[in-house]
Amino acid sequence: MAKQQRILTGQVAAITGAARGIGRATAEAFLREGMKVAIGDLDLATAERTAAELGHGTVAFPLDVTQRASVKAFLDGVEEQLGPIDIMVNNAGIMQVGHTIWDEDDATTQRMVDININGVMFGMKEIVPRFLARGRGHVVNVASTAGKGGFPGGGTYCGTKHYVVGVTEALRAELRGTGIEVSCVMPVVVNTELASGLTPTRGVKQVEPSDVADEIVAALKEARFDVFVPRSVAGITKVMNLLPRSGREGLSRALKADQVLAQIDPGKRAAYELRASHSDPALEAGDPTRQLTP
Ligand code: NAI
Repeated sequence: MAKQQRILTGQVAAITGAARGIGRATAEAFLREGMKVAIGDLDLATAERTAAELGHGTVAFPLDVTQRASVKAFLDGVEEQLGPIDIMVNNAGIMQVGHTIWDEDDATTQRMVDININGVMFGMKEIVPRFLARGRGHVVNVASTAGKGGFPGGGTYCGTKHYVVGVTEALRAELRGTGIEVSCVMPVVVNTELASGLTPTRGVKQVEPSDVADEIVAALKEARFDVFVPRSVAGITKVMNLLPRSGREGLSRALKADQVLAQIDPGKRAAYELRASHSDPALEAGDPTRQLTP
């Protein structure tokens, strides 16, 4: 007998980095399910505009996921305005690509670690005790298929997403039997500003933010851990894992997957790269212990 689908109506969701892109689309999909949604983002002006456009009581909060106090203040604010949080989506992330590992400047490396790794860690550390206190809740971490492979030109990004996949698997194991669910979202390239100017992979269609959002909703309803977008990637990943390394790497080259993050169009990426490079305010403030590149 098919497992009964969970009903999401009335549930409270907090989504990080939801001013635009996948986070915004997820907020939209949640609202269609009748959920109450809070969006946190570093870009407060855009977050507020998005909340107003989405309507249905959506609230926007300032958030810098690189600061644990900011994550705590976000969750406190959401609970105060909307009630106890049922679903937390750790979505905020940046992708700065186009350099080899040895050519990437240290501040860029640090920024991706701060946002993509520490941001998700702070999100989990702040939400899980709240969920445990109530014996329910669902943590959704947005990783990437870059968390399942290594793509030239995106070494740090891939590394941070492998971290998210690994830590999310560990979280699932730690929370077994508590009533708290965990999901790990692994999309291919998605049509957002983050992905501007990338080389397409042969045979893998670029998906839209709404496709990712719909899969997140499905995962919440089914309490499913692995969320590949599109779903066909689950099969491709399984086949890849059965191949010897040389076969896997050959197939990746044949599909041009090795060029996705290396052969980029700098002109098309310029606006995104500029925005991303301002996404870790404390780093840019020039704190000498964190600003690694003089
Ligand atoms: P996006 O750039 O469209 O949106 C990301 C949002 O995060 C922005 O609104 C930005 O202001 C916010 N943000 C950045 N730094 C922040 C910080 N320190 N604190 C709070 N918010 C911050 O990016 P997109 O494409 O929507 O990505 C969302 C997530 O999906 C990321 O984790 C990304 O790595 C992941 N992903 C994206 C894919 C793609 O091709 N677009 C593919 C696979 C995963």
